[in-house]
Amino acid sequence: CDIGSKEKEKTLAMIKPDGLLGNYTERIKDVIVDYGFSILREITTQLDQDSASRFYAEHSSKRFFPSLIKYMTSGPVLVMVLEKENAIADWRALIGPTDAYKAKITNPNSIRAMCGQDSEKNCVHGSDSLLSAQSEISFFFEDVSSALHLLSYLFASR
Ligand code: PPS
Repeated sequence: CDIGSKEKEKTLAMIKPDGLLGNYTERIKDVIVDYGFSILREITTQLDQDSASRFYAEHSSKRFFPSLIKYMTSGPVLVMVLEKENAIADWRALIGPTDAYKAKITNPNSIRAMCGQDSEKNCVHGSDSLLSAQSEISFFFEDVSSALHLLSYLFASR
């Protein structure tokens, strides 16, 4: 066995409506690839009131929640599953702090400094833990792949 190799990790990345509107998609994807992430899955989708509220449920009691939901439903988003060693922490480091205005000062090379404006229009999202990465990936993707798994299992057991 290869003792030196580390487990790869998956995280959920999202380009928010301001990122798509500002045509930052290709620049962001270039950064993703340059930093050694593989893009395993991607989907462009439009969140509605219900799906955005479920995705951000942990923030439902926050003062900014209604504004966040209005913003996140204002246009399409591009959702990706990224993979590499230490993907969760590395993607969070690469996007920079939540407040893109502050990011321009403290993390000028971050993605949010490049294409965000403030704490709401901050261009990109990244899962903040292993648990949230797993649940956010299944929120957008696992329904299909688990259905396929079930189908192949049913065929194999015939
Ligand atoms: S907190 O309060 O520390 O848990 O929140 P934080 O992790 O900083 O942010 C969670 C998500 O809420 C968005 N956010 C806001 N939206 C609108 N207005 C304001 N003031 C605001 N502050 C934070 C922020 O963009 C985070 O979204 P994600 O997609 O997780 O980056």
